[in-house]
Amino acid sequence: MDKDNLLFSKFYLCITETEHRMNNQEVIISEKIESSLKQVIDKCPHDKVFILTDEYTSKYCMSVLKDFSYLSNAIEIKIGAGDINKNLETLASVWQVLSEKGATRHSLMINLGGGMITDLGGFAAATFKRGFSYLNLPTTLLAMVDASVGGKTGINFNGLKNEVGVFAPAKTVLIDTAFLRTLDAPNFFSGYAEMLKHGLISTNNHWNELLVFDTEQIDYEYLKQLVSKSVQVKQEIVKQDPFEHGIRKALNLGHTVGHAFESLAMAQKHPVLHGYAVAWGIVCELYLSHIKVGFPKEKMRTTVQFIKYNYGSLYIDCNMYETLYELMRHDKKNTGDTINFTLLEDVGEIAINQTAEKEVIFEMLDFYREYMGI
Ligand code: GLY
Repeated sequence: MDKDNLLFSKFYLCITETEHRMNNQEVIISEKIESSLKQVIDKCPHDKVFILTDEYTSKYCMSVLKDFSYLSNAIEIKIGAGDINKNLETLASVWQVLSEKGATRHSLMINLGGGMITDLGGFAAATFKRGFSYLNLPTTLLAMVDASVGGKTGINFNGLKNEVGVFAPAKTVLIDTAFLRTLDAPNFFSGYAEMLKHGLISTNNHWNELLVFDTEQIDYEYLKQLVSKSVQVKQEIVKQDPFEHGIRKALNLGHTVGHAFESLAMAQKHPVLHGYAVAWGIVCELYLSHIKVGFPKEKMRTTVQFIKYNYGSLYIDCNMYETLYELMRHDKKNTGDTINFTLLEDVGEIAINQTAEKEVIFEMLDFYREYMGI
């Protein structure tokens, strides 16, 4: 093989290996976390194990892992909780500990926490010494059904959500739904918004079962089944398009407006949980779906009612429209100057790469205010 071909073949191998890892990410739903985690760790040769926690998971979830004898030498790295800490300073503090404690390319990180931990921890592991393996052990509903699965990692930067990051899948995502029993209501609903999104982009049946699920008297056994379905929806899409060139954009439903709401709330120093912003983003983007690509009005009404009832609303007035528009223009999903939306022609009928003019976006924000009773 000549030099050019050899280089090309190495490059090709490298692409296919990452792609292969993205396509084949293992997700295990288990109630026997001690033995399941051991099996997963045994499959990953490593020199040292690091466990990334935040102040809550360190207190409430680490106690479970501490008793596992095979983790007795693991080094815990604890960071501040919440999206407010998903930044460069925190990331640097994690790199700092990894450096001081002698992490190598053969180390293993376990991200124990919600989406902030799995995003930031995944990014730290994927970049330190050009990357070492990590596992996700999601403890919130949002992380179980969305953040921990599919290989997106990163941090917020310059006031923008997930502005810097890489695609780098966890070797395994180990979901123990027992963690959900201690989740507070806001965190339950935050994750449930991503499940609702998965319902909207998959089938009428799944969308409908999510709308009628009793969120006040939670049946955890049934929730586990819904979580499993939700993860399958995501995995199926990631498998088809790991790097979001096409159909993976379906997972962005609600997020173009949702991220703008979330960034606005953060700038106003009243941060909101990601899933709440997504739910309000879904309200807006279903309206756009209705007027642009004919999403059925009745299905829009039913979904919007569910969101209004369970999520309340984020206050906005028309003086904030320009700021929201600018935030949408900075969304990383855009190409050039146009704002990119994922819309729905119907439940499960996805229309990616849709755009909307500024006046239509303002009209959409009017609809949001009117429907949400602001
Ligand atoms: N959270 C959307 C995605 O993983 O693509």
